[in-house]
Amino acid sequence: MESQERNITVKTGLEVHRMRRPSRIIEELLWSLKEVIRPGVSTREIDRFCENFIAERNAVSSLKGYQGFPASICASPNNVAVHGIPNDNPLRDGDIVTIDVTLNVAGWHGDGAWTYLVGAGSPEKLFLLKAAWKATAAGILAARAGGRLGDVGAAIERTAGRLGCSVLEDFAGHGIGTSMHEDPIVANTGVKGSGRPIVPGMVFTIEPILCLGKPEVNLLEDGWTVVTRDGGPTAQFEHTLAVFRDRTEVLTLSSRDIRTIIDGPPYF
Ligand code: MF3
Ligand code: CO
Ligand code: CO
Repeated sequence: MESQERNITVKTGLEVHRMRRPSRIIEELLWSLKEVIRPGVSTREIDRFCENFIAERNAVSSLKGYQGFPASICASPNNVAVHGIPNDNPLRDGDIVTIDVTLNVAGWHGDGAWTYLVGAGSPEKLFLLKAAWKATAAGILAARAGGRLGDVGAAIERTAGRLGCSVLEDFAGHGIGTSMHEDPIVANTGVKGSGRPIVPGMVFTIEPILCLGKPEVNLLEDGWTVVTRDGGPTAQFEHTLAVFRDRTEVLTLSSRDIRTIIDGPPYF
């Protein structure tokens, strides 16, 4: 714990400002994908769209080449919980797919993910998707200067539980800045009032993965793809947040006030 404490970087106002640019490109890209994701499209085609979108804005994917990751985005359909590698399989009506984008502009990173319904989806998957949004929103609302990271985990865990969903505990949010992953770890479960203090200048992600069944996963042989053991679907939203003394800014959600959209993602 103490060694982690030393590794936390607190950002200046100017540094937070530099992180707005990558974060807004992510937001814009995730909005655009609403029109791209439909039955018949493959995750490789989505990856290509993202690659062009990112290049046109003079940004750089932080994922491509990261520990050998082969694509510009993570694309995780249905039972893929996280870190899915884009491939040629067409998405089908009723699928659900999470697109996670991490990119940087001049070395400053932003990180964000949305889950989308492919076509009309199914009531069960829509419920899960909305639950993941509600849990993320609850975490964001709990992330305030003067609080503690345990407040965030507790809010996420409570919201998911109330909706009958489980949180995959192996995965967490993280600090972000000149590296894609920095301290602290932002767990998606926890106890209110516990954990590290949230202080102005902290910039971190909130990114809980929710499932309807057992929150247990396997890693496939490609070394990246994480799937649910029971084959059930998962949903995830991720946002990058900057903490100020009197407010918390969602860098990847510049277009909407989170308090006005706690029941479902803004793109519905
Ligand atoms: N964007 C992911 C995150 O939210 C990072 C994935 S890194 C990977 O932290 F390359 F390992 F997939
Ligand atoms: Co992240
Ligand atoms: Co991410």
